[in-house]
Formats: sequence, C-alpha cells, structure tokens
Amino acid sequence: MAHEVASIPGDGIGPEVIDAAQPVFDDVSDRFGFELELTRYDWGSERYLESGSMMPDDGLAELAGYDAILLGAVGHPDVPDHVTLNNLLLPIRKGFDQAVCKRPAILFDGVESPLEGYDGGDIDFVVYRENTEGEYADVGGQEHPGHDHEVAVQSAVFTRTGTERIVRAAFEAATEREGRVTSITKSNAQAHSMVFWDRIVEDVSAEYPDVTVERLLVDAASMDFIRRPEEFDVVVASNLFGDILTDIGAIITGSMGLAPSANVNVTGEYPSMFEPVHGSAPDIVGDGVANPLATILSAAMLFDHLGESEAGDAVWTAVTDQLADPDAPRTPDLGGTATTARVVEDLRTRI
Ligand code: NAD
Ligand code: IPM
Ligand code: MN
Repeated sequence: MAHEVASIPGDGIGPEVIDAAQPVFDDVSDRFGFELELTRYDWGSERYLESGSMMPDDGLAELAGYDAILLGAVGHPDVPDHVTLNNLLLPIRKGFDQAVCKRPAILFDGVESPLEGYDGGDIDFVVYRENTEGEYADVGGQEHPGHDHEVAVQSAVFTRTGTERIVRAAFEAATEREGRVTSITKSNAQAHSMVFWDRIVEDVSAEYPDVTVERLLVDAASMDFIRRPEEFDVVVASNLFGDILTDIGAIITGSMGLAPSANVNVTGEYPSMFEPVHGSAPDIVGDGVANPLATILSAAMLFDHLGESEAGDAVWTAVTDQLADPDAPRTPDLGGTATTARVVEDLRTRI
C-alpha cells in the first residue's frame, strides 16, 4: 500500500533535520516493501517574509488528504514567534484535532544524562500532553494598551471532551506500560480549570482500577522530574504544562536533539503530525551539526502510526544501536564532533 506523507521542513534547523531524515524514508520503504511518497511544502517564515503568509489560505485543505505529516520546526529571528506559530504549527494541531500529544522521555544506553547516577534505561516515561485547548485556546484574548493601566487577558479553555480524551489516552497507555499515571495540575491556584481537570481524572480513573494515580502540582513535578525521574511512567498534563515539562524531559534524557513527538488525531478523521520536540535552534542553524535523531525517532513513530510497525521498530532500533555504540558518530549536543550528515550516513548502515 502506498502511504502519502506531507513534509513541512519549516525554519532554522527544520530543513536540516528533515533533509537528514529523508533517506531513512527511502531505506525503510525499500527494505520493508511499501511505497512511501513524501511531498515537501516550503511553508514557513521565509515564505512569510516574501508573501506575508506562512502557508496558503487553503493550506489545511491541502494537507487534509495525506496519511500523515512530518514537520521540522517553526520560528525565525526576524518574525515574531506568535505570528509564525499561530499561522502554521498551531493551526495544524488545532485544525486537525490532534488532541493527544505523545512525548516519550527515554534515557537511551550510551547517552549521558546531566543528572548524576543515571544510566541508560533508568529514565523511561511518556508525557501525554493535551494539544488543542487549555492555555493555548486563544479564545477571548484582549489587550487594552495605550494608557497607564494596561491590561492583557489570555483565557484558558478546558472542555470535558478535550480533557477526558487526553486523560483517557494516558490511562490506556498506562495499561500497556507499568500501570502508573501522574496527573499534573496547578489546582491549588487555578480553582476552575485545574479543579475540573482533577475531577475528570477521578472519574476516568474509576474505569481503570488497575492503574495507580498520583497527583502532582506542576511546580513540584518540575522538581521531581530532576529529583526522581525514574519513578514516572505516564504523565498527563495540560497544553502549557506538558510543553514545559517535555523540555525538562528532553534534557534529563540527554538532549533536545533526541526528543520525538506525535500529535495524534485520535478519531482518524484527519492526518496526525510527527515532529521533534525542539524548535528551529537559531543558535546552530547553518552549522550542519543539528542532531537529526529527534526527527528520525519522530519518523519511527510516524511509521508505527501508518501501520508499518516493522519499519518503525527498525528505525527505533537503529537509533538505539547507534547511541549505544561508543565508536559511532555523535553531534555536539551529545558531546561529539560529528555533523548531521555523518550521523545519518552511519545510521543508514544500521537500518
Ligand atoms: P530550541 O528547541 O530551538 O533550542 C533550544 C536549545 O536546544 C538550543 O540551544 C538549540 O541549539 C538546542 N537544540 C534544539 N534542537 C537541537 C538539535 N536537533 N540538535 C542540537 N541542539 C538542538 O528552542 P528555542 O531556542 O526556545 O526556540 C527557537 C525557535 O524555535 C523559536 O522561534 C521558538 O518559538 C521555536 N520553537 C518551535 C518549535 C516547533 O516548531 N515545534 C518548538 C520549540 C520552539
Ligand atoms: C513545542 C513548541 C510549541 C508549543 C511552540 C513553538 C508553539 O514549544 O512543540 O513544544 O508550545 O507547543
Ligand atoms: Mn515546547
């Protein structure tokens, strides 16, 4: 069966890591005997600077027919982030109802954690981040500038449907893992949204008597991601808290350059999108040293999603083999001196 995938390299190191991942698509489709067509869309900040828009007006309609989307990164030093992100990445997540964001945080063998005393395998959890509403809802925002008492209002919206969906996805995942869910809130301060969230966790947890539930406030959770990361299994959090916690999850497991993610449309009505957790990394753009592995692991999650789990496993295993090999090339974020291209060249010999 032929799979059609849209690729949106985007900005900064986005095109570097997507170009690096491209041959991996060719390798797995050859090896596992399926057709895979990758169509590239040059949407992003360069387009915005030339034409005033990040993507065409009918961009979502254009993407709707694909089986999946692979995205690099969005964000450019010459364009405000709220413009670039609210006109490309976030409309795709929201427009395609990609409500469940899965972000694994795994300390792979051969990778050094900045936390002392942690070896490969010691950290292995997954964050389920609510991905379409919450603090990113962008509803009823107001600014009243131009006088001495300026006010800006940014509302958060939590629906029962959206909250139940992410919480249930986390409990389901826990049944396939170690049976532990940690729910992150700030219900000591946010008496509406987060108390509502707690209530939904309680309701859903009643359906999963074999799953144990821990509740943590986000400030304490940030500390515990550093202090006792080995104790987490499935972590479920709102859009903003999940965003922040997954950068912590990435760095304690070695690098932003190793953290993959899946933005899943659970109804299957629209394509899901796969992308690294990291951004466009303007500090290293053009140096040819961006770590491509977060994107390649995201591609492995994409293959799984398409039902090509042999291909997904082969790519995931090739990456873990490479990381475990002390003689393999590594990019500077992992303490090496290799280029992006060299890492991919070596990886291809392992697929
Ligand atoms: P960032 O993730 O781009 O970079 C943070 C740090 O991690 C930098 O030091 C960077 O060099 C390093 N890093 C990131 N990816 C790496 C990789 N693959 N290999 C090696 N090192 C890597 O975060 P930032 O600097 O806060 O944001 C830069 C821009 O990206 C901003 O415009 C931001 O809005 C945007 N952003 C986009 C996304 C996305 O498209 N999904 C995600 C995060 C940030
Ligand atoms: C991420 C990013 C995005 C987010 C930004 C760029 C809007 O940080 O994917 O983690 O907050 O979701
Ligand atoms: Mn983020």
